[in-house]
Amino acid sequence: MISADEIWELPHCHIGRQVHYFKSARSTNDLAAALGADRRHAGIAILANQQSAGRGQYGRSWQAPAGSSVLLSIVLQPPIEICRPALLTAWAAVSICELILQTIGRDARIKWPNDVMFDDRKVCGILIEQGSAIVAGIGLNVNQTVADFQAAGLPLAGSLSQAVERPLDTNEVARTLLAALDRNYESMVNGELAALESAWRRRLGICGFEVLAETFDGIVHRGKLRECAFAGLVLERSDASIVRLMPEQVRALTRLGRVGAA
Ligand code: BTN
Repeated sequence: MISADEIWELPHCHIGRQVHYFKSARSTNDLAAALGADRRHAGIAILANQQSAGRGQYGRSWQAPAGSSVLLSIVLQPPIEICRPALLTAWAAVSICELILQTIGRDARIKWPNDVMFDDRKVCGILIEQGSAIVAGIGLNVNQTVADFQAAGLPLAGSLSQAVERPLDTNEVARTLLAALDRNYESMVNGELAALESAWRRRLGICGFEVLAETFDGIVHRGKLRECAFAGLVLERSDASIVRLMPEQVRALTRLGRVGAA
């Protein structure tokens, strides 16, 4: 294991009590996975100023100019009751939305399952990976310009600084994010899921709407989303039949148009 350039100690309960900061890393998720082999490392956060082999979902690469982003991975050993991809993704996504509201005063939304958006632009991606520990990887665009995204072939991406028209301190943003992650993790381990679930549902913004739900086995269901909960999604088809899906079964969930109250 290569050693960190800096170690920060934060007064947190679970997440980021210790932060290992690297000027450069291949992938913070790899560093976190290596640490996760030892259960005593649960909660450690790995932060990098740049990555040479950042990973995104579905084997894609995750690119960000040096110093432009929060590139963060957290080693997790969650208690069995909360050890579910859907819950951990919601925890990360809601915490990122809270950070965005706190930092730039904007209401972000969650795009199923792993993206955080505002102004219809993706500002953050989440990658949850499981090995001997669970690793939650977060790539948050902070200071990229329109030109940066164009050069990277990402015309639909956005960054926090674009909204406020000034650069932001990425380490400050990372600290605020770690505080939100810690606060919400503490609620989860205490079994308080209701606030997280309702923030997740609200920020998804699709309950009560006509949706397409594509499952990982390739089936596409169309219906009105009657319920959107950690315990399951309920779709009502046009013939009034009901489809029940666990969040973990659903690869994509897209809103078609408003057909009733949320
Ligand atoms: C996505 O494809 O939307 C998920 C992107 C996740 C990127 C982050 S950056 C920090 C961490 N380290 C990685 O290699 N990937 C994640």
